[in-house]
Amino acid sequence: MASPAAGVVVIVGSGLIGRSWAMLFASGGFRVKLYDIEQQQVTNALENIRKEMTFLEQSGSLKGSLGAQDQLSLISGCLNIQEAVEGALHIQECVPENLELKKKIFAQLDQIIDDQVVLSSSTSCLLPSQLFAGLAHVQQCLVAHPVNPPYYVPLVELVPHPETAPATVDRTHALMRKIGQSPVRVLKEMDGFVLNRLQYAVISEAWRLVEEGIVSPSDLDLVMSDGLGMRYAFIGPLETMHLNAEGMLSYCDRYSEGMKRVLKTFGPIPEFSGATVEKVNQAMCLKVPVDPEHLAARRRWRDECLQRLAKLKRQMPSQ
Ligand SMILES: NC(=O)c1ccc[n+]([C@@H]2O[C@H](COP(=O)([O-])OP(=O)(O)OC[C@H]3O[C@@H](n4cnc5c(N)ncnc54)[C@H](O)[C@@H]3O)[C@@H](O)[C@H]2O)c1
Repeated sequence: MASPAAGVVVIVGSGLIGRSWAMLFASGGFRVKLYDIEQQQVTNALENIRKEMTFLEQSGSLKGSLGAQDQLSLISGCLNIQEAVEGALHIQECVPENLELKKKIFAQLDQIIDDQVVLSSSTSCLLPSQLFAGLAHVQQCLVAHPVNPPYYVPLVELVPHPETAPATVDRTHALMRKIGQSPVRVLKEMDGFVLNRLQYAVISEAWRLVEEGIVSPSDLDLVMSDGLGMRYAFIGPLETMHLNAEGMLSYCDRYSEGMKRVLKTFGPIPEFSGATVEKVNQAMCLKVPVDPEHLAARRRWRDECLQRLAKLKRQMPSQ
């Protein structure tokens, strides 16, 4: 059984992301209180987590050193926020992506938390300066942005408010490492953080290449899944440069002129509408029809791929 000293983590919002966080914190031996305004959401979440953990244990993919039963016993539902946050060391907010709603919840939490707990938001794209403006406990606040599905994709972007205490980021970094996630420090807040800026750069050029008739939508996706993506699961673009020549200086020496020449041909921001969206949509629907069964089946396949990739990455430690 986990040591009670591991501490209490509160999840605010028991939807898709809240459930994943609950499982991750339980895998690290933390007691988890799963809070929601909807009783049915909490009931569904606990049932869904039980099924997931049983499946993960059977398939040998359960994280942490505790068995599924012990991990499950660490998670409880809660409908009273005051009770939930008492004595907590970390609060992870996971309510829908709506600035006013999140601000309302942080203002409420600001009234009832102590000076020790870390208050963290899962927001995908709201900025800390908007979320935490005017809070008395702003030094204890930051964004910890996970990637879906967080159980298999370990990256977490830690984004501070300008007034966040460095100790808050350090503590959250250590906590994320403890539950097996891979935290990165975004040093200053920036729209889109880092992951989405990279993702949008790729989507943008993908769109232009299809729009200009250079490549078909399905071949474009293959370039990533059977090309770039193969190594990006293990090394980033900067290390790729370093390894693709005799080090970074040699790469820049050899390839910077070519890169700049190609980059100058990049077009403007796409509109993501009109004939191109129809063309891309048609190709995607041919591959995965837009009905709940096909979408769910494809997502299950994607998650199984990510689960196996996560296993492979554990067998191939980077250092
Ligand atoms: N879904 C993703 O792929 C993804 C990835 C990374 C980050 N995020 C971020 O995580 C957050 C949650 O997203 P999600 O997909 O889990 O949403 P979701 O809609 O699945 O779940 C939201 C939950 O919050 C609950 N809720 C609503 N109002 C509440 C309140 N006042 N107090 C407590 N609970 C309340 C709802 O009942 C629901 O259970 C969002 O900010 C989102 O941007 C989502």
